[in-house]
Amino acid sequence: MRADPRLLGYLTRSLSYEVGSVLQYMVDAQQCSQWQSHSYAKQFRESVQHELEHIALLVDALVKLGVSPAVPGLPSVRLCQTVRQMMYTNAELESRVIQHYEDALQYCIRRGDETHESLFANILNDETSHLEQLDSQTQFLRSTED
Ligand SMILES: [Fe+2]
Ligand SMILES: [Fe+2]
Repeated sequence: MRADPRLLGYLTRSLSYEVGSVLQYMVDAQQCSQWQSHSYAKQFRESVQHELEHIALLVDALVKLGVSPAVPGLPSVRLCQTVRQMMYTNAELESRVIQHYEDALQYCIRRGDETHESLFANILNDETSHLEQLDSQTQFLRSTED
């Protein structure tokens, strides 16, 4: 059976977002190391691991559908000047990712596709927590600068 092209579109875009996130957080971890901000570097390396887990879930889903994973149109990776700027940039990235997963989830609910509904709901849950972490750190950094 041929896989639903719209579902494949959601899965492939998800993969692009996740690979883009991995690259962004690798860059951020390296910059934080250079700035001697070791706790933030550690946090970004942990984020890389979480995003890699999402990639693994998406690759599994694509392969189960008989599709070879491809990563078109990667989001651009930014070099930030400060940790605070990183938190803002990453919150923007995660917000776009959350919107994407919400759309994908709604599509699967409408189609009655419980397998992929559960996949997108799980990743959406992780990204929502991720955004909350970034938002609380942005607030903390703002409070230390005032
Ligand atoms: Fe992710
Ligand atoms: Fe994330």
